[in-house]
Amino acid sequence: MNHEKNECVIITIDMRIDLMTLFPDLAENVFNDALFAIARSKDLMDYRVHNIRDYTHDKHRTVDDYPFGGGAGMLMKPEPIFEAVEDVLSDKGPDEEVPIVLMTPQGEKLTHKLVQEFASYKRLVIICGHYEGVDERVREHLVTHEVSIGDYVLSGGELPAFVLCDAISRLIPGVLGSDESAQTDSYADGLLEYPQYTRPPVYRGWEVPEVLLSGHHGNVDKWRRKESLKRTMERRPDLLEGFEYSKADLKLLKEIQNEGDK
Ligand code: ADE
Repeated sequence: MNHEKNECVIITIDMRIDLMTLFPDLAENVFNDALFAIARSKDLMDYRVHNIRDYTHDKHRTVDDYPFGGGAGMLMKPEPIFEAVEDVLSDKGPDEEVPIVLMTPQGEKLTHKLVQEFASYKRLVIICGHYEGVDERVREHLVTHEVSIGDYVLSGGELPAFVLCDAISRLIPGVLGSDESAQTDSYADGLLEYPQYTRPPVYRGWEVPEVLLSGHHGNVDKWRRKESLKRTMERRPDLLEGFEYSKADLKLLKEIQNEGDK
């Protein structure tokens, strides 16, 4: 209640993310800084951190155990993970759909499309795996998505989870300074971003392309689109498979081709 004005102030958080981790201090520190802190302070994002160890029932607060059948390393036990997620989701509405995401190198590779899908939900649960993996029953009977941030193995799911949270948060309207920034990012329209320059116009003899200083918006837009196409062709031709070129794009492609032929 706002007592001065004697009226109710209703705060609506755009999205809530519950992070299940063995390193809650690390997560709290991350969510209290940079983009996360801004999103929190604007009441656009609610990041809640939960210590999986708080859901153990033994004296040693055991979260891992040896794999049946032998083998190297330890596995995360199912019970604390199930109990943690079930507790966090106990206030969920009956029809509310909440993805439960396990960060794992075995998961689906994270793309802009997948980030957009997650950003469309009001809530998300993220489980950070550790040790040599998690008991398979967590994958089979609890999680709805398994996500990898790339073909390399990290020591745990926390850093990948922060990557996912960052990518989602910057798509929530109002989190970034200008909503346009998220739309012109690399991948947002299927192309890599064009080269960008700021002052000074000449640095160590290296000049900013003249067109960007011209003040002619039409020419600037055309130059940027052409550079995006060129850069994507050079660096990530895989992104152009199935890409829907406009008529103007096809004209630019011809220009690029002609320049290359010279
Ligand atoms: N945990 C360890 N490595 C990972 C990766 N590459 N992506 C997601 N989670 C992980």
